Amino acid sequence: MGTRSITIGILGAGYWGPNLIRSFAETPGCEVRYVCDLRQDLLAKIAKRFQQVNVTTRFDDLLNDPEVDGIVIATPAATHADLAARALNAGKHVLVEKPLAHEVEAGEKLVRLAEAQKRILMVGHTFEFNPAVRKLKDIIRDPAFGDVVYLYSRRVNLGVLRQDVNSLWNLAPHDVSIILFLFEEYPRSVIAHGLAHIRKGVEDVAFMYLEFPSGKIAHVHVSWLDPSKVRTMTVIGSRRMVVYDDVDPETRLKIYDRGFEIESTMSGIDHSDPSSYTYRVRSGDIIAPHIEWKEPLALECRHFVETVREGGVPLTDGHNGLRVVRVLAAATASMHQNGRRIEVPAPVKS
Ligand SMILES: NC(=O)c1ccc[n+]([C@@H]2O[C@H](COP(=O)([O-])OP(=O)(O)OC[C@H]3O[C@@H](n4cnc5c(N)ncnc54)[C@H](O)[C@@H]3O)[C@@H](O)[C@H]2O)c1
Repeated sequence: MGTRSITIGILGAGYWGPNLIRSFAETPGCEVRYVCDLRQDLLAKIAKRFQQVNVTTRFDDLLNDPEVDGIVIATPAATHADLAARALNAGKHVLVEKPLAHEVEAGEKLVRLAEAQKRILMVGHTFEFNPAVRKLKDIIRDPAFGDVVYLYSRRVNLGVLRQDVNSLWNLAPHDVSIILFLFEEYPRSVIAHGLAHIRKGVEDVAFMYLEFPSGKIAHVHVSWLDPSKVRTMTVIGSRRMVVYDDVDPETRLKIYDRGFEIESTMSGIDHSDPSSYTYRVRSGDIIAPHIEWKEPLALECRHFVETVREGGVPLTDGHNGLRVVRVLAAATASMHQNGRRIEVPAPVKS
């Protein structure tokens, strides 16, 4: 592809699409030629705001234009697999919003199709580009943090209520992608519970518990039925603890130098004699590290453009997206069997 500018078309101009349109429009080396949506009213708004863009209700306009290199898909989750397959079959590179697909088999087909077509398949796991998440990974991998013991995450708010997927498939792709990125380990099993209160069969709230081969555990709570917006992730290490708060731009990360220390009660510690030792709380500094902030979506868009122009494998490629889909599918199976522990199939390629 060399260094020529690439041409892209964006599908879906609902809530998230305009963010992608703006971000790609600002990305060097890329021209947004088309925006496609089924709704004329949304296209009229886009045409007013982005005057250099062609708007259309026909996906084929994008697929049939030989100058379009890449298609960006920001339509509802249940449509991703079908639309991404059409784009790959037309020989286009694809950036598809999370989740890659709504079923494991559909995700696997996409990964195979991208390989057969020799086209890039990237998934919009935006948080893997987030400088705070990347810093969080550095922190928990620093020997000073000790071993990671467990992690828990909350992603709750009042809304946005989705029609096509439940809160697990809408919100938890973010948490799962972050956890797999941080741990570099694939869960062994998952247990999940959920509750559908507003509409029958569509869980508004879900609790997911992941167990990893190393012994670490992670818990994820997602909901669109909660009084206020919370986006926090807490990681507990054997020496330190860290809280990531995505809605606190001043202090996204706080490192707590806290834990328990073993202390002798006699002349020395004898592990076979519990009366020879006690545990003392160690309470040290709380540090808010500086984060070199850049907008995650801008970094994601730039990465897609660079990968299409220069070749290579994107950070959040189809395999990465498929790993997240496998975990969510196992969690769904658990949720539908009253929280039965479900083994997560090992990824074919890590
Ligand atoms: N990365 C993130 O942080 C993030 C944030 C929000 C949403 N998302 C993802 O973005 C996607 C879209 O979410 P949203 O909130 O914008 O949904 P939305 O329902 O607001 O918008 C989706 C749009 O797609 C259009 N559409 C549906 N089928 C189409 C088709 N076949 N051709 C053309 N247009 C079609 C709809 O008319 C609608 O305007 C979802 O996959 C969601 O998971 C990602």
